[in-house]
Amino acid sequence: MKPSNLLSRALPLIVATLVTRCISIDTGNETMWFAPDCSPVPGFEHHGSSHFSVIAQDLDRTISFYEKAFGFRLVFIFSPIPEYKAAYLGHNRGNYPSCQAWAGSAVEETGQIEILWLENASSKLPPTTKEPNTFSHIGIYTPDVAAACERVAAQGGKILKPKGEWIESLESPVAIAYGLDPSRIKNLSKEKRAALLEGLKNPVVGFNNYCFATDLDGNILEIQPTVL
Ligand SMILES: *[C@@H]1O[C@H](CO)[C@@H](O)[C@H](O)[C@H]1NC(C)=O
Ligand SMILES: *[C@@H]1O[C@H](CO)[C@@H](O)[C@H](O)[C@H]1NC(C)=O
Ligand SMILES: *[C@@H]1O[C@H](CO)[C@@H](O)[C@H](O)[C@H]1NC(C)=O
Repeated sequence: MKPSNLLSRALPLIVATLVTRCISIDTGNETMWFAPDCSPVPGFEHHGSSHFSVIAQDLDRTISFYEKAFGFRLVFIFSPIPEYKAAYLGHNRGNYPSCQAWAGSAVEETGQIEILWLENASSKLPPTTKEPNTFSHIGIYTPDVAAACERVAAQGGKILKPKGEWIESLESPVAIAYGLDPSRIKNLSKEKRAALLEGLKNPVVGFNNYCFATDLDGNILEIQPTVL
């Protein structure tokens, strides 16, 4: 399909989306608003986001970290040259009988992690907990947040906020990874900063039930409870 064709098809959809979004904003409750329509979007059946990807310093240790902390399975490793590898991990919710069968459908599975690795890389990348960038965090769910957090620590991850506590400061690695680092919040008044911290305690978000931790490269994991 020509791009102009694509745009003319997509434009009504984009405009319709914007219009419904605008009228749905509930100014009576600035903390949270719900869009009016969450039904499947016609024409976008079989669409979805399948994975996120991180760049790791140590491939084997990072694979082991995600396996042991969260029960991920290694599905395959793609390696166009021995010095560069991409490992794919996920949870076998599709009940695939083999890793080959899973790999054949991996693009359609959700929530997978891809770990990229370059042997003897000549520079180390700063994680978002140190230097904010457009990647914020990885959300993972588990029936037992505290136990998962303990496993993260046992595998060499760092616990930034255990379950049961609130985010109490904007001067923290969590704040940096959430785009609230000191260099970006200069335009927020003292009162706004205090209101922001207080607002994060809204029960609808449930931050106190989450554990915030890092993986081996310092990426933030937002570990949330499964709704059973
Ligand atoms: C905003 O909405 C949330 C979720 O519905 C609710 O828990 C909260 O109390 C509301 N806040 C105000 C100020 O109305
Ligand atoms: C990487 O470094 C190790 C240890 O210094 C060395 O044995 C290996 O050959 C290096 N590999 C590459 C691709 O440079
Ligand atoms: C935000 O801060 C920057 C840098 O200090 C300044 O140039 C800009 O005008 C500020 N914007 C507002 C809306 O205060």
